[in-house]
Amino acid sequence: MMNIFEALRVSHDTQRALAARLMASGPDGPERHKIFLDLKRELKVHETAEERCFYVPLIEHDATVSAARHAIHEHHQMDEMVEDLEGRPVNGPGWMNGARTLCEKVEHHLKEEETKFFQEAGKVLTEGQKMSLAKDYEAEFLTLRTSEAS
Ligand SMILES: [Fe+2]
Ligand SMILES: [Fe+2]
Repeated sequence: MMNIFEALRVSHDTQRALAARLMASGPDGPERHKIFLDLKRELKVHETAEERCFYVPLIEHDATVSAARHAIHEHHQMDEMVEDLEGRPVNGPGWMNGARTLCEKVEHHLKEEETKFFQEAGKVLTEGQKMSLAKDYEAEFLTLRTSEAS
């Protein structure tokens, strides 16, 4: 059984792999677009499940409220970057620069969560919560992932 930190890292690894594939993709529109859509969906599903099952409980604690607020703000910033990229052709001018900025933001966000916020959360969550939140997160992720699948 995984704890909440291990559960969150599963999607983090998926996001890193998709970002690397996007950066390595050729100017062939359909393939690049497909990888972008996969990354978009992974980000959206992970962000929402993570906010509901990790950051909401952290908002309850004085020691982690600012980390939670910061992370949710970054989720919003990434959403806006995705939205901007979505409206433009993937092989058009500047698209890859925008995609690179998004991927760098994703890398920064994941690193900050894993090296800073997970440690802070580790101090305020009980061992029982770390396990039960992992279950909640995985169930939420799957539900959202299914409704995004079409
Ligand atoms: Fe996040
Ligand atoms: Fe995350």
